[in-house]
Amino acid sequence: MRTTVGIIGGGPAGLLLARLLHRAGVDCVVLESRSREYVEQRQRAGMLEQGTVHALREAVAANRLDAEGMVHRGIELRYARESHRIDFPSLTGGRTVTIYPQTKIVQDLIALQVADGPPLLFEAEALAVENADSERPVVRFRHGGREETLTCAWVAGCDGFHGVSRAAIPADLSREYAHDHPYAWLGILAEVPPSCEELIYARGERGFALHSMRSPTMSRLYLQVPVGTDPADWPDDRVWDELDARFAIDADWALKRGPVVEKSVTPMRSYVHEPMRHGRLLLAGDAAHIVPPTGAKGLNLAVSDVRLLSRALVRWHSTGETQLIDRYSDVCLARVWQATRFSYDMTKMLHAQPDGDAFDERMQLARLRRITASRHAAAELAANYTGLPLPE
Ligand code: FAD
Ligand code: DHB
Repeated sequence: MRTTVGIIGGGPAGLLLARLLHRAGVDCVVLESRSREYVEQRQRAGMLEQGTVHALREAVAANRLDAEGMVHRGIELRYARESHRIDFPSLTGGRTVTIYPQTKIVQDLIALQVADGPPLLFEAEALAVENADSERPVVRFRHGGREETLTCAWVAGCDGFHGVSRAAIPADLSREYAHDHPYAWLGILAEVPPSCEELIYARGERGFALHSMRSPTMSRLYLQVPVGTDPADWPDDRVWDELDARFAIDADWALKRGPVVEKSVTPMRSYVHEPMRHGRLLLAGDAAHIVPPTGAKGLNLAVSDVRLLSRALVRWHSTGETQLIDRYSDVCLARVWQATRFSYDMTKMLHAQPDGDAFDERMQLARLRRITASRHAAAELAANYTGLPLPE
């Protein structure tokens, strides 16, 4: 097989890239190792920055998002049994965020691509990217029990953290920066209307908790748990009791309980690979970087990488110029490091440190008090949370 852009991975990054390229008349092929059912059900992120919503609209992939997405104008911070609201529009010149599940973004993009888009091969596992620094890189992949090759002008590595693309960059040209956070998140999806109108980030001595949502009838909640936690040790009642304790404030508030339909544990890691390009291989999304989920940057970063990447590839396709491709890695990484810093700071500020002492706890409270007392400090949080601007 031959194509102009070979895209490895059919997650949000790969699917959106394919959509943007297809609309600009650049042909591509997407290889996805899992089945359609699997990728359409995988529970992940839910909070979209304004720029992410804009990108999906630009790709004409936002019909359901515009009908069902829930626009949020702020978040609530809870600590010391108090509740404080951060109002985004007044702090950012009008910016908001939208709650819309990653699973639905993936379903929407797959439906469009299957209907009239470029080829999307499920259960097609990329095995290796070869000759990345030549004019004709090749992706070797397995599909339907046979080994095949995809010869491309460019390869987009959108295959997530555990993919194969990153490994095609020679070790002596790669720099890796990583930090493992000493806790994990237990996430549940529950069939119960959210107990709040906006997301609640709660810090307490028992650990962090987050109340998010997927729709007016589905709640998504997270608890800080120790690394290595087995979800089987957390029967539903234990999860709800712990959430109740962590969200408690000195005011009237009650957490609604309902049937838990999904439960899983997510590790928390900060990781950045530099550079994001090697020859004709370009990495995007989790293939190049991951952040701990506090602050909800993972999906949004994947989308902003792809916006920059599609612009660069479309420019090359229409003019033969590679200037934008040459700048792709540096421009992305500047943004990636800002999101990495923000996610790291939010994580450290809100989680109980397993080896922390009373001093650490006072530092966390001082940070939170500064954010809720100073318009300046709140505006800094709001600017990062709603998304830093994409470079021109
Ligand atoms: P992915 O979504 O990982 O997509 C990569 C795709 O490539 C996958 O479909 C995979 O099957 C495929 N693939 C892998 N290897 C190969 C191969 N060899 N050949 C072909 N295909 C391959 N972010 C948030 O902002 N908030 C959250 O609450 C949140 N929760 C998360 C929970 C979990 C369990 C995980 C893993 C991530 C979570 N994230 C969250 C992060 C967010 O979901 C990711 O940042 C986002 O999915 C990145 O999109 P992506 O397309 O780059 O990678
Ligand atoms: C969600 C996850 C996050 O990590 C976050 O900060 C906000 C929302 C979510 O899954 O809805």
